Amino acid sequence: MSHFSVLSTLPPDTLLGLMTAFRADPRPDKFDLGVGVYKDLAGETPILSAVKKAEARLIDAQTTKVYEGPRGNTDFCAHIEDFVFGKAHPARAEGRTTSFTVPGGCGALYSGISLMKRTGTKRVWVSKPTWPNHPNVVKSLGLEVKDYAYARDGEFYRLGMMADLSEAQPGDGVIIQGPCHNPTGIDPTLEDWKELGKLAKEKGLLVLLDVAYHGFAQSLDRDMDGVRAFMDEAGEAMIAYSCSKNLGLYRERTGCFLVLGETKDGIDAVTTHIADNGRATWSMPPAHGAGIVATVLGDAQLRAEWETELNAMRTRMKGLREDLSDALVKATGSNALAALKSQNGMFSRLPVTAAQTVELREKHGVYMPASGRINIAGLNPKDIPALSKILAGYL
Ligand code: LMR
Repeated sequence: MSHFSVLSTLPPDTLLGLMTAFRADPRPDKFDLGVGVYKDLAGETPILSAVKKAEARLIDAQTTKVYEGPRGNTDFCAHIEDFVFGKAHPARAEGRTTSFTVPGGCGALYSGISLMKRTGTKRVWVSKPTWPNHPNVVKSLGLEVKDYAYARDGEFYRLGMMADLSEAQPGDGVIIQGPCHNPTGIDPTLEDWKELGKLAKEKGLLVLLDVAYHGFAQSLDRDMDGVRAFMDEAGEAMIAYSCSKNLGLYRERTGCFLVLGETKDGIDAVTTHIADNGRATWSMPPAHGAGIVATVLGDAQLRAEWETELNAMRTRMKGLREDLSDALVKATGSNALAALKSQNGMFSRLPVTAAQTVELREKHGVYMPASGRINIAGLNPKDIPALSKILAGYL
């Protein structure tokens, strides 16, 4: 008898299953609002030009493929520390920060939840709704998932979130998303971030800030304001930083896991635990994507070129939001979806049921997960009139 006969077949992952089904759909008129990747006017997800140039330089200069070490590319780590903490944050000089190259934002998430577990955390709070892989990783590490209210009537719901988190026990973990919340596109204000930081401190919560869309909300400079305000109040935090979207490095799995601590001794110990956990999982960090990012950010010209490309992606996403929102307001005769315009990043949620998302896919070739999340960054402007007409039938 096979050892594997005890296993039953699992359903496909929500987003990856959708990606496969979309690619296999032979209909010419189909609309991909599923997995979160940016697409240009030609419907492609291009390699950014700054990335392409950095990659060529990197390969040309490379003389070895030998392991880099537990923290991976330390230039990369320093650049991401600049982004997250700021160049002059006193904690850096005091040895109260640490950072590791990890396989993508999800590798950082895994490092963070593992670290929570090592500190004795038993349960982890996630926003309702959230990115499905948040609860997935928490459960895979054997911890309990709890959820907190996040948005109401198209706005951030601070009172609901604070009320739910007031039930949390000291030592509980919490995942809070940085700018461009996935799936709602709704972000806390600076004031909200401060209040959340105070609450985390008061209640002794261990918070992981998931930053996957830096530069997609307002600008590279401003997008970290909330995260930094939170850290100033909370004193300690872990940060999962992804370069998948803002540098378009998706498959290169380029992420950074960072920690801010109250004491140098604490951070020295944490550093050994992150290294130990990495060794027991991926053993050595991936080098290629981090090498590209270090090359882009370490060269004034490439960096300026990347910033121009990033700004163009953001401006295009904002334009698509406006066009889709206007088209939906017109097609439905209701102002309800005007809020799409004020949201940030790649995603928004449509008020549709899971059953309606199935019908949208089967009848009309409109692909979105059961949650009604739509990836605005994947839209083609020429599809907006037809798409909004179809969607209006369900809104
Ligand atoms: C998404 O939310 O669609 C992306 O972050 C891709 C993923 O890995 O789920």
